[in-house]
Amino acid sequence: MSKTVLVTGASTGIGRATALLLARQGFTVHAGVRKEADGAALGPSVTPVVLDVTDAGRIAEVADSFDRLDALVNNAGVGVTGPVEFVSLDALRRQYEVNVFGQVAVTQAVLPLLRAARGRVVTVGSVGSWITLPFGGPLCSSKHAIRSLNDALRMEVKPHGVATILIEPGSIHTAAVDKLADEIEPRLDAIGAEGRRLYGEAYRTMTTAGLREERAGSDPEVVARAILHALTARRPRARYPVGRKSRLMSTLGRVLPQYTLDAVRLRALGLA
Ligand SMILES: NC(=O)c1ccc[n+]([C@@H]2O[C@H](COP(=O)([O-])OP(=O)(O)OC[C@H]3O[C@@H](n4cnc5c(N)ncnc54)[C@H](OP(=O)(O)O)[C@@H]3O)[C@@H](O)[C@H]2O)c1
Repeated sequence: MSKTVLVTGASTGIGRATALLLARQGFTVHAGVRKEADGAALGPSVTPVVLDVTDAGRIAEVADSFDRLDALVNNAGVGVTGPVEFVSLDALRRQYEVNVFGQVAVTQAVLPLLRAARGRVVTVGSVGSWITLPFGGPLCSSKHAIRSLNDALRMEVKPHGVATILIEPGSIHTAAVDKLADEIEPRLDAIGAEGRRLYGEAYRTMTTAGLREERAGSDPEVVARAILHALTARRPRARYPVGRKSRLMSTLGRVLPQYTLDAVRLRALGLA
């Protein structure tokens, strides 16, 4: 019998590549999208399911609709950037609502099914959980939080036969790049005149360097293949750094002394 998987955030990027790859590999794929049109655009190999991970009622309906579920791929995510001093708490909450609470909510809802199937939870974190960038505090901190929650979950559900794996992409060229580019001016507007005076130039410099990195990033297919491995390997590892600069970034974040790491980051982003 083919394995059944739910992939959240499958409209574009890593989620889309993953849903389509898993379908090609014989999985029965439920592809989470927020708009029906995005579901239709995925084609006939997957079953689209309208799922906003911040909508508790919808999460419960989707979980109830499955007779069986072998795996969850927690992929849906957004990226909020801005100076900690001025980022609005609403924007920060939104970051956590999707990347942290949304992922946990979907996981909680389907764990009984995964336990019954002795299944797997694969969560898309980020190397940003090891190396926070200036003005990347909202996004990177959400990935720190999900890594820690994932560590706890892994140890808690292992005795019940559920494996939990964290995928840690580096720079991947996806729709997220254009979303970041489109959000630079609105974010600068949102931080007000004093925020722009203090941080505007550095924020622009950092986002320009960040966009350059992402545009030169790996194809999302690379991450999809790592997720396939995490779902099918007999003994999957706990974490997989994957894509351009993922190993370098996560290793630097772990081994360099903090001020040295600060200097490396600032220089790399043109902020030294
Ligand atoms: N690209 C990278 O370099 C990179 C690096 C490290 C980690 N990641 C992580 O990889 C994951 C996928 O990102 P991506 O690069 O593929 O970006 P993407 O192309 O922008 O895809 C993000 C996906 O999440 C969905 N989404 C956003 N808010 C949602 C919500 N409230 N409920 C359900 N779905 C929602 C989006 O749906 P809509 O189309 O409806 O907005 C889209 O399908 C994210 O968790 C991201 O943090 C990416």
